[in-house]
Amino acid sequence: MNSEMDFENRIVSTGFSEEDKDIENSLRPKVLSEYIGQEKVKDNLSVYIEAARARGEALDHVLLYGPPGLGKTTLAGIIANEMNVNIRITSGPAIEKQGDLAALLTNLQEGDVLFIDEIHRLNKSVEEVLYPAMEDKALDIIIGKGPSARSIRLDLPNFTLVGATTRAGQLSAPLRDRFGVVFRLELYTTEELSRIVSRSAGILGIAVDEEGLMQIASRSRGTPRIANRLLKRSRDFAQIRHNGVIDADAANDALSRMEIDELGLDSIDRRLLTTMIKNYNGGPVGLETIAAAIGEEAVTVEDVCEPYLMQIGFLSRTPRGRCVTPAAYSHLGFEKDAQQSLL
Ligand code: ADE
Repeated sequence: MNSEMDFENRIVSTGFSEEDKDIENSLRPKVLSEYIGQEKVKDNLSVYIEAARARGEALDHVLLYGPPGLGKTTLAGIIANEMNVNIRITSGPAIEKQGDLAALLTNLQEGDVLFIDEIHRLNKSVEEVLYPAMEDKALDIIIGKGPSARSIRLDLPNFTLVGATTRAGQLSAPLRDRFGVVFRLELYTTEELSRIVSRSAGILGIAVDEEGLMQIASRSRGTPRIANRLLKRSRDFAQIRHNGVIDADAANDALSRMEIDELGLDSIDRRLLTTMIKNYNGGPVGLETIAAAIGEEAVTVEDVCEPYLMQIGFLSRTPRGRCVTPAAYSHLGFEKDAQQSLL
């Protein structure tokens, strides 16, 4: 694999490829009890679902936020399934006009879940249609123009809006305030990822031993979407270059051929850290500056690279910019110079 690959093709990218869509759909747990990890979310969500069902009401609107690839769409599907209703799936950028959202809302049936991914990317005029819909189950339509324009109000069925975002901070306050339930999804532990990979291997009929599982889990940067992708790629290597079983050897071989190191860092992470160390003396350096230096979008660096690098203590955010930590220096084989270490 080319080390200059872009984020879309990056094996540890958390973006969605067509292949991921197929795998994820077959691997997605359908009920809460099959969903691994995010224990606090599951505990509370199961209470809210049971209570709403017992009252015969729709579940309150739910906002899910956290880094990409952690299972926000999966959870929305589980909510719909457990509530025994349909789910309509769309995304912020796909809803261009007020009319697009009006069409979605008027097609909902009683109790349905409307899932809006990347809800922070809804445009302002569309967002304004959402407020009365969320609050009063009403759709305000303006007919006519100028002085004779009139507003008519249509009633909508009860519905649950499930919004997902990687950046809760970018939601406007009025929108954020209209969610009765807000959950932050966390990166998964290696143990949880290992259970997820084991479950996926079972569904896909892939032979993997305990050490193979650990190798994949510990190098998936806390993200099930990456873990499932690495599982499939490791299967290819196991099948062609090893004896068909993903053991420690096969997994190691696969992961190092994909240029993913023991901690799950790929060539882009390493380029990011190395550029900060070599060109900016390890920081502090601004996000936009680093992104431009490695030729990537600032949002991608922020949403995709940084959460994991911060989680493993390789990067810190300070008011003056991003800093590489001593742990990252030593992982990448750099000495921190004397002047730097005095800072
Ligand atoms: N596949 C992806 N995410 C999962 C999760 N949290 N639990 C079970 N299977 C998954």
